[in-house]
Amino acid sequence: MAVRLGDTAPDFTADTTDGKINFHEWLGDSWGILFSHPKDYTPVCTTELGAFSKAKPEFDKRNTKLIGLSVDSVESHKGWAGDIKETQGSALSFPLIGDEDRKVADLYDMIHPNADNTLTVRSVFIIGPDKKIKLTLTYPASTGRNVDEIIRVLDSLQLTADYSVATPVNWKEGEDVIIAPAVSDEDAKGRFPKGWKALKPYLRVTPQPNR
Ligand code: BEZ
Repeated sequence: MAVRLGDTAPDFTADTTDGKINFHEWLGDSWGILFSHPKDYTPVCTTELGAFSKAKPEFDKRNTKLIGLSVDSVESHKGWAGDIKETQGSALSFPLIGDEDRKVADLYDMIHPNADNTLTVRSVFIIGPDKKIKLTLTYPASTGRNVDEIIRVLDSLQLTADYSVATPVNWKEGEDVIIAPAVSDEDAKGRFPKGWKALKPYLRVTPQPNR
């Protein structure tokens, strides 16, 4: 069964390149990003893991832990980590789950049989400190993910968790946001003291409130 927005992220215990972890315990009070890649020793995955490893300080700043997964063994992941360091200029900086028995892949519905019967697709799950699923993304094996987009959406999720706002198309940290439709103008006066511009009664734009 697919994991959907608002669901509690399925918990599991698994072997990783950093030892055995219980997922919920490992997450603690942090945000988390669980992402799968199809296979070890493949080119696109190598570039993705190098780029996510390099960007780890950005995720740390956002109190967010990264964890990767493929249906290969931890031993295989460890060997591949050497190639990632050698070719991507960044050593692996977060754990990779060894999921040979596909236990976690099945829990999170990461195998899409009409794409490939045996390998995981490129899934991304962003999980909040309440252990709820905040975002899901699914890419095919042939398309590498965009680290900047994952950070951008994380910024939006963290902002909108704290303020009654939504972020418009192509929004980036620091840009104006939209006051949530459920907030009345009367209520908005207290919540958004910098004011807002009403392009339509339902489209009210205000400076990012936590800046
Ligand atoms: C890759 O990561 O390069 C890859 C993996 C599986 C299929 C196609 C590409």
